[in-house]
Amino acid sequence: MARSTLLVTGGTGLLGKALAASIPPELQPYWTHLRDLPAGLAPSRFTRLDVADRESVFRLFAELRPAAVVHAAAMGNVDFAEQHREVAWQVNVGATQNIVDACGEYGARLIYRLTRSSMATIPPTMRDHPGIR
Ligand SMILES: NC(=O)c1ccc[n+]([C@@H]2O[C@H](COP(=O)([O-])OP(=O)(O)OC[C@H]3O[C@@H](n4cnc5c(N)ncnc54)[C@H](OP(=O)(O)O)[C@@H]3O)[C@@H](O)[C@H]2O)c1
Repeated sequence: MARSTLLVTGGTGLLGKALAASIPPELQPYWTHLRDLPAGLAPSRFTRLDVADRESVFRLFAELRPAAVVHAAAMGNVDFAEQHREVAWQVNVGATQNIVDACGEYGARLIYRLTRSSMATIPPTMRDHPGIR
């Protein structure tokens, strides 16, 4: 696959869907989802990925070799996350570490934007990562 591929995790979420309207097709965006894909989204551009599953993350990076990654997969429901802290940590921190590491391994630029409520869950060492813009 061409090195210009842009991978967007969480393509079915609020942020991922908003990005879909503004990313030019020449960037060859490729999207991930976790649950069944809602109707109306092109399945050929989507793949199911649990970002907390490190092996699967690295397998997808090996296949796509993305030039850049927008990491928008997260547990976005703050109320749910506060009640299920262990799972929230796995998805919002552990999975983000998987993406950071895979970007490092495959030389992909990482674009990662957090809302203030999510930022509190991210350790400072990851906030300061040079690949995060
Ligand atoms: N919403 C905003 O205005 C905004 C602005 C700036 C930054 N952000 C940041 O963007 C991130 C996502 O926020 P959001 O509001 O878009 O959340 P959201 O609407 O809840 O969407 C979450 C996305 O993550 C996916 N997902 C959840 N768990 C996953 C897992 N284990 N593996 C793979 N994918 C998983 C969901 O896939 P399924 O739909 O398949 O479950 C969905 O695509 C957060 O870190 C947030 O801080 C959000």
